[in-house]
Formats: sequence, C-alpha cells, structure tokens
Amino acid sequence: MPSLQQIRAALDGSGQAHVLRFWSELSEEEKEAFLQELGQLDLQRLEEHCQAAAEAAGAAPASCSQNLDPNLEPVPPESMGSVRRSDPESLAGWEHEGFLQISRNRVAVLLLAGGQGTRLGVQYPKGMYDVGLPSGKTLYQIQAERILKIQKLAESRHGSKCTVPWYIMTSEFTLKPTQTFFQENSHFGLEPSNVIMFEQRMIPAVSFDGKVILERKGKIAMAPDGNGGLYQALVDNDLLEDMKRRGVEYVHVYCVDNILVKMADPVFVGFCVKKGADCGAKVVEKAHPAEPVGVVCRVGGVPQVVEYSEIRPETAHLRGAAGELVYSAGNICNHFFSRSFLQEVAKKFKDQLKPHVALKKVPFVDSCGNQVKPTKPNGIKMEKFVFDVFPFSRSFVVFEVLREEEFSPLKNADGAPADTPTTARNSLLAQHCRWATAAGAALLDEHGNIIQIPLSSSAENHPPVKCEISPLVSYFGEGLELILKGKTIKTPFILDEEAAKELQAR
Ligand code: UD1
Repeated sequence: MPSLQQIRAALDGSGQAHVLRFWSELSEEEKEAFLQELGQLDLQRLEEHCQAAAEAAGAAPASCSQNLDPNLEPVPPESMGSVRRSDPESLAGWEHEGFLQISRNRVAVLLLAGGQGTRLGVQYPKGMYDVGLPSGKTLYQIQAERILKIQKLAESRHGSKCTVPWYIMTSEFTLKPTQTFFQENSHFGLEPSNVIMFEQRMIPAVSFDGKVILERKGKIAMAPDGNGGLYQALVDNDLLEDMKRRGVEYVHVYCVDNILVKMADPVFVGFCVKKGADCGAKVVEKAHPAEPVGVVCRVGGVPQVVEYSEIRPETAHLRGAAGELVYSAGNICNHFFSRSFLQEVAKKFKDQLKPHVALKKVPFVDSCGNQVKPTKPNGIKMEKFVFDVFPFSRSFVVFEVLREEEFSPLKNADGAPADTPTTARNSLLAQHCRWATAAGAALLDEHGNIIQIPLSSSAENHPPVKCEISPLVSYFGEGLELILKGKTIKTPFILDEEAAKELQAR
C-alpha cells in the first residue's frame, strides 16, 4: 500500500492535488479509510483516465453515433436462429444438445449484478427485489430455483448428476449485501461452493474539466467500470482457471433484472454449440423504435451492439419494405461465450475495449466543503459494455426469442410507463397462466367462475390472474400436464412442490 507522501506526489503530478484538499479536517478513522481508497486507485493511469474522460465528454454524445450509423447493417439471416421461425425438430435438437452439455457439467451461468440500480431507486442490490408475486420470491430466489430445476432436468434426461455453477459479478456496492442475503437464505438450496461471487473494479467519476470528483471530504466518487468490467474481473479473480477446473466450456451471461430469464437456457446454449459459435446474443424483436434496448447488428462488417443511448433516432426508426424495423434485434443482455473465447479476450482484447461515456449527476463537495446535489449532469462516468467483445468473435450467432416468454426487465419504479415491478410481476403471472391452461387446468376466479385465457395472451391485454408456478416444479412449462390436466383450480394459487404432490394424488 503506498504511503500518504507517495499518494500526494502522484496526485500532484497528475493535476489532482485537490483530492487531498480537506485532509487536515478528517478524523483519524476517515483518514485511514480514505488512504485505503486512494491506495487502491491506479495512480499511474489516473491522469490518462481523467484526460480521456474529459475529452470523450467534450465530443459526446453525438460523435459516436454519427461515426457508427453509416456503417450499420442488420445481422445477416445466416447467423440468426429464431424460436418463431424454426421447426419443432430443430428446436428440440438444440434443446437436446443444451441438456447434454449441461449434464456433462460444461455449462455455467454468469450474472452481471454490479450495477447500482439507480433507476429503480432502491438502496440494495436489484436481485433482492420482491416484485410482489404471491410467493413473495425475489429475483435471486427465482434464478436460484431455475438453476436447481435445470440441473434436475438435465440429470433425469441423461442419468448423471450435474452442476451448473453460478458466477455472480458484484461491485463494491453490491458484494456484501448479496453475500449476506445468500447466506441468510441458505443459498436457496444451492451448494454454496457452486455460487461464486466476485467483485468488479471501480473507477473515479471525473468532472468536465478532467478532475476527480470528491463525493465527501474524505471520499472519491467511484462507480463500477460497467458490465464490460467483467473481462478484467475474470482475470483479477482467476475465474477462467476456476471454470477450467470445473470443466466448464460454455458460459451463459445475463443481467439481473429480467424476471423471465431462462438460466442456462438449453435451447440457446444448444443452438450456439451446434452452430460452432464462440459468442452469441439472445434478442427479441424491438417493441418500438425508441425502446431502450441495444440493437444487435453489424458495424463495418463485424458484429456489435449499438446501445440505445448511442443510436441516432433516424436509424432506429428506419423501416423495410414490409414496414418492419430494419434494426429490430433488441439486445436482452443474454449472451453466450465459449470459455476459450473468454480466455482469448482476457489475453488479447480486454484492454482494447473502448469505454463509453455517460454524463451523470454526481453529488460532490465544493471547494468550500459544502455538500452539493447537482440538478444537471456534472460528472463523467466511463463504462465498458459486456457486448463490446462481439467484434472479436470469429463465429457470432444471434438467437431470437419471444418477448412474452423471455423478456420482462425490471428497470424503473412503479409509476413509470414500462419495465416496472408491476409489469415484471404481470408478465410472469401471465406466462404461468398460459402454461397452466395449456397443460389442461381450468382456472377459477375468486367467485368460482372459469377464467378464459387465450393461449397467446400477453400481460398487457389481461389483468393478472394470480397463478404462480414454482421453478422447482417447472422450468419453462414442461411437466405440468401430469399435474394439472383436467384439474379445476381456484386462484390465487401457488403451484409449489407440495401443491403439485397433492394435485397429482387427487
Ligand atoms: C442493458 C444492455 C442493453 C439491453 C438492456 C436489456 C448493456 C451495456 N446494455 O441495458 O443493451 O438492451 O440491458 O435489458 O449491457 N452491471 C454491472 N456492472 C456495472 C454496470 C451494470 O454488473 O458496472 C449490470 C447490472 O447490474 C445489470 C446489467 O449489468 O444486471 C445491465 O445493466 P443496466 O445498467 O441495467 O443496463 P441497461 O441500460 O438496462
């Protein structure tokens, strides 16, 4: 750990002397904590980071989109698969392949959970959020139970016990509460050694004139380095070796907030493996041109995601002859990587990833020591994006899935027009209702009247019927006929393992 003198010299040398402006006012305890924080900074590259941020902010945000858009092309059909357009045999073949790989312990899931969840406005990690399902389950519990179930399904298909390790990337903000939450909940039935939490790096927020922002007198405003910080974090924490040791060959990377996420999705994994892909992305058709999802496409002939904050509106609105959006492949932050590709990225490419610039309101302490909460953006956060490794792929594929079955993210607090706890909850309940009805159950409302649910119903069109199916009973609607066929069920209803046993005995 460098001494105060060394830190002071480094800060002076990089034009950041203001960072220690209030040093003499700090208590001994504050000094110790601040020294610890400063000691972890990459002081050598601090000046470079601050200059790059200020320059990028001066040029942002229009320049990146102006540079990108003329070179955009949609993903060519030969690298695309689609649930909607594929025949049942192909889908079953991919699923079979996925299950085979899972049963051989070759598949891991990796959760990106280092974000701060600012839009949702909670002080704890988003995975701990309870969207108000009848069971009261949090996003983490739902995900954990889907892992338990997929292991069981693979086991029963191939007759061998298997493990899907769960890697969870956290940040300084989310590591401790996530660890405590998992411990308090006995890892939701998973073997603790197969839940591997690790931390991504943090970097300082910078003002428009290239100065590190002081959040308090003894604290720098730090932020996680974006979900593309994954690749550095894999190296920092020796995780590629851990994967190798466990025999993991394929990794399904996903973001925390999609309540419908199919953990280690055997169809997606199988599709990517069968196509010989080193890298893949799951997409849904964009709902409308301005939907805040990245677009999976090609830029200058190589695969890339153009983020919603970086595409020009004219490009997002472009339509083809039949009125369809030209750039319709909406990124749902569900990616496939082969371990060998991740290894190559770690070795050769991770330092080439260009950070993206976000202008944010960063609370700070002014030169007189007053705490200020800015009303307009005053700071620059530099973030790497997880999909920025796509251009390095040699064999990239895209897999389109149905939105109502696989994508309903929790981004905003209730009251916002989309992606709220209510919309997430309703999407899941609507899906479970479709599954129950398709399996042959008749659902009754609280007055005993049969509820008519068209099989294609989506959350928006129908008030939610409270029928929730535990992932421990069914991962994606499978196996329900045995339990529900010909049964009349009064809602609200939770189909957990106990209820399933009772119904089967009926
Ligand atoms: C993300 C995608 C976007 C996609 C959308 C779908 C990225 C960069 N953007 O956008 O293309 O259409 O999801 O819902 O992937 N995270 C970290 N560390 C960080 C920052 C974020 O682990 O430093 C995690 C978050 O916890 C979250 C995920 O990355 O699980 C996505 O981050 P978020 O900020 O929610 O991305 P979006 O802007 O919604």
